[in-house]
Amino acid sequence: MRRKLVVGNWKMHGSRVSNAELLSGLLAARPYVADVAVCAPFPYLSDCAVTLAGSDVRWGAQDVSAHAQGAYTGEVSSEMLAELGCRYAIVGHSERRAYHAEDDALVAAKAQAALARGVTPIVCVGETLEQRDAGQTEEVVKRQLSVVIHRLAHCAGEIVVAYEPVWAIGTGRTATPEQAQVVHAVLRAQLHAATGHADRMRLLYGGSVKADNARALFSQPDIDGGLIGGASLKAADFIAICRAAE
Ligand code: PGA
Repeated sequence: MRRKLVVGNWKMHGSRVSNAELLSGLLAARPYVADVAVCAPFPYLSDCAVTLAGSDVRWGAQDVSAHAQGAYTGEVSSEMLAELGCRYAIVGHSERRAYHAEDDALVAAKAQAALARGVTPIVCVGETLEQRDAGQTEEVVKRQLSVVIHRLAHCAGEIVVAYEPVWAIGTGRTATPEQAQVVHAVLRAQLHAATGHADRMRLLYGGSVKADNARALFSQPDIDGGLIGGASLKAADFIAICRAAE
């Protein structure tokens, strides 16, 4: 049995005061049956490290540099994240692909840099509406994932994958559980062919997951939890989604 994983992606939201309130709400609702994590903006990671220390609520970053160290102004290395106790780093989120021109090769390099320091990359893949309408969904997500698999080679089994259809992110338009399951099954088969143990890997769904649609999504055979944006910013909503994964 794979343990479900629910990850909050705060994006560029929050403040020290509102984060403290959110985290104390999450801590008060323990225990969780699912694994639970929050991915916060870089300036707040050390607050997460302190507030969540000793609890089983994990935390992560929303990005990581592909470089180990050096003259890369503005970047944050996986070694720095690991030093704080960071468990996860989201890589290849569609917003970074779209607004920061991140391509598949860079996403793969970031995933490798994270793993090199024991930070688990949450690798995001997903098609645009245009690609879905053109019948290219499978081809697109398989291409995105194959570059990561190729680069990571024997470590490919150590990542978490998040399928996030771009048209479902922040739009209120969710993939149906059946639509998501079809893609998850494709991705798991691809991972299995590469690693031989994708039955132990966790594949998350992301894109307008809310308390009222989470259970139906998470009950699909190949959906092992979620990457939650907007609904991770309010403790009650996020807790309800974590419960739906139990
Ligand atoms: P959303 O975002 O839940 O607000 O759609 C998900 C994500 O972008 O990870």
